[in-house]
Amino acid sequence: MDKIILTGGSKLSGKIDISGAKNAALPLMATTLLTNEEMLLENIPRLGDVGSMRELLEGVGVEIEDPKESPGRLRLKCEKITNTEAPYDIVRKMRASILVLGPLIARSGRARVSLPGGCAIGNRPVDLHLNALIQMGAQIDLSRGYVEANVERGNRLQGSRINFPLVSVGATENIMLAASLANGETELSNVAREPEIVNLAECLIKMGAEIEGHGTDTIRIQGKESLSGTAHSVIADRIEAGTFAIAACITEGKLELVGANSSDLRAVLDVLLASGARIEENSSGLVVEGPGGSPGAVDIMTDPYPGFPTDLQAQMMAYMTRVDGASMITETIFENRFMHVPELNRMGANINVHNSTALIRGVKKLMGAPVMATDLRASVSLVLAGLAASGETTINRIYHLDRGYESLVSKLKSCGAIIDRVET
Ligand code: UD1
Repeated sequence: MDKIILTGGSKLSGKIDISGAKNAALPLMATTLLTNEEMLLENIPRLGDVGSMRELLEGVGVEIEDPKESPGRLRLKCEKITNTEAPYDIVRKMRASILVLGPLIARSGRARVSLPGGCAIGNRPVDLHLNALIQMGAQIDLSRGYVEANVERGNRLQGSRINFPLVSVGATENIMLAASLANGETELSNVAREPEIVNLAECLIKMGAEIEGHGTDTIRIQGKESLSGTAHSVIADRIEAGTFAIAACITEGKLELVGANSSDLRAVLDVLLASGARIEENSSGLVVEGPGGSPGAVDIMTDPYPGFPTDLQAQMMAYMTRVDGASMITETIFENRFMHVPELNRMGANINVHNSTALIRGVKKLMGAPVMATDLRASVSLVLAGLAASGETTINRIYHLDRGYESLVSKLKSCGAIIDRVET
């Protein structure tokens, strides 16, 4: 298993190209299941999770071409669904596998998808996905760890009015996919408003679905009997861009984030500005310069978009370990998303957790240490802390990073980080 070894202390400086968003690419890949025509997706990042979604789609009958001469481009075609099962072995690696459930039932009237189960950051149930599909006429049974979903022979999913009791990105996407091939109109309220939802809606519209309200809390979808193939591009990864923006701040450096979309990052940029960072928006992206010295203390509460993203909470906490004073970070989305705290404390941070709130008292310096992370964003927060620490940090279990950060080591290295990936 590979590990990352890095020596902290360098101020990062240079340009980084922001990759396509993992969380937009995965639902866009699932749109392939809704049509027998070819889908051409551009700006697909090379990530572990994209590999898992490919494997899942190939298993149900999708043919995928990945032309060597055009990196980031995928051609996907699902002439016929040959198998309606998403097996445990893939779903356990990636929760977003549940996104094939809606399109599989909508196209073929049945699906058997493994339940994702718990994960390091919490229980993460899928009840919202299942209840919405039941409202659309699916019959759902849970048996031996699988969701078995059926629509009566000859029937299609029926458009319906669904009010989600809490905001879920995945449930919103799953039901948007299903409703695009359902009979009649579906109205979804209390939906997620993330930029990835808008990216998906724009693709479904090009495929022939009638959708309005994406980007607001109510979406209306007029389902179609069939949808056509189209070409569509994945938006820039706002979480990757936010991570590198924090890397510039924590190392007191200056990074140009090419392709970053500042309007998707408003809540994050506001926090970085309040900490003393300088941020310039230009036609090619963003330039972020650290405050120089200890950052000013900022309190943060995670929230669904347009609030502060939970996927940047761990990285922001690494930054706040160096604060002048104390900062409070409250996690409202996931119940167990402070797994990075003990590891940051091993590096010299002073963080106390009370329920869903962490109190971070600033320290003068962090010290490199061997550390280990349990999820994707926690892992990258340890990389950020290591960049700011004195001495060497070793990060184990880096398969988490490979799931969601494309070429992390080479991108950081090109901006002056002393970092290597080592095979063990
Ligand atoms: C997506 C993102 C993930 C991000 C999260 C929140 C992808 C592939 N992943 O995950 O990176 O951290 O949004 O922004 O896009 N919930 C239920 N029942 C359900 C579904 C969700 O109770 O059926 C709860 C979850 O446990 C969580 C909250 O709703 O507490 C929000 O989760 P959700 O938005 O669904 O997250 P994901 O779509 O899994």
